[in-house]
Amino acid sequence: MADKVHYSELGLVNTREMFKKAVNGGYAIPAYNFNNLEQLQAIVMACAETASPVIIQVSKGARSYANETMLRYMAMGAVKMAREMGSEIPIALHLDHGDTFELCKSCVDSGFSSVMIDGSHHSYEQNIELTRKVVEYAHQYDVTVEGELGVLAGIEDEVVAEKSTYTRPEEVEDFVKKTGVDSLAISIGTSHGAFKFKVKPGEKVPDLRFDILQEIERRIPGFPIVLHGASSVVPEYVEIIQRFGGKMEGAVGIPEDQLRKAAASAVCKINIDSDGRLAVTARIREYLANHPEEFDPRKYLGDARKELVKLIKHKNEAVLGSAGRV
Ligand code: G3H
Ligand code: 13P
Ligand code: ZN
Repeated sequence: MADKVHYSELGLVNTREMFKKAVNGGYAIPAYNFNNLEQLQAIVMACAETASPVIIQVSKGARSYANETMLRYMAMGAVKMAREMGSEIPIALHLDHGDTFELCKSCVDSGFSSVMIDGSHHSYEQNIELTRKVVEYAHQYDVTVEGELGVLAGIEDEVVAEKSTYTRPEEVEDFVKKTGVDSLAISIGTSHGAFKFKVKPGEKVPDLRFDILQEIERRIPGFPIVLHGASSVVPEYVEIIQRFGGKMEGAVGIPEDQLRKAAASAVCKINIDSDGRLAVTARIREYLANHPEEFDPRKYLGDARKELVKLIKHKNEAVLGSAGRV
């Protein structure tokens, strides 16, 4: 286990201030998942160049892939790199989908400035109990906590099952009060991964449930709301992946106009992982297909990194509205 360290020693900040500004300013803070050096470099480059506050987030799987000690220094390096670029963007290191108290505690102890405890698969009472326990621990170190109410739909879910897993607005006030969370992830029709809806080619995907979002806002005005599963599954990347040997038929995501509308509301954190994966995979497939003689990872990973920078800048500037908010 890594030595104990407080996130402030790494130059990181928690999410409190950035969320306050985002809610008041009508934009959303981007939360980009990363697992490796090139993804993190791309996030820092793009966010520094667009002057966007950012949450760099890792899942449980990413943490064991990257190694927890390595991650700490990567996060510290991310802050230093931004500063050396002349940028003062605030950077938070967040645990995405923490599933146990122990994992959240371990992240708090090893330098994370924010953690998510995802108790959404438990009963309402158990979710409250687990979330409150994490909040009690994390707040001792001024680490902010994201909770979740409602389960995000997956591609396997039937329409009826999807409906029953939307966040129930009548629960949010009670949940927030009893747990003390700093932000709340909700389920209004987004879903994780690259296959978010079963639609025929050319068919429009269903709109997000803005009526539920509005009702949640009405019940907890100004409270920071988080949207997971918010990749657009950029069709250009899906096409490149397929052209160069990949198999992604039926991949579809959340249209950008829906995300813009959400970002202008109480949604102040938008999670993006799949789009980054697609950008990287598209460019690597294309590069290797066009340069069969090449075996220097810097070549194809460099190309992938460049594409990721382009994608993140676009998200910050044209979708989330976080560019220039520092
Ligand atoms: O919501 C989940 C994130 O996309 C992380 O995925 O667990 O495969 O790292 P992962
Ligand atoms: P996507 O799969 O839509 O990128 O969602 C990522 C996410 O919610 C991470 O927590
Ligand atoms: Zn998620």
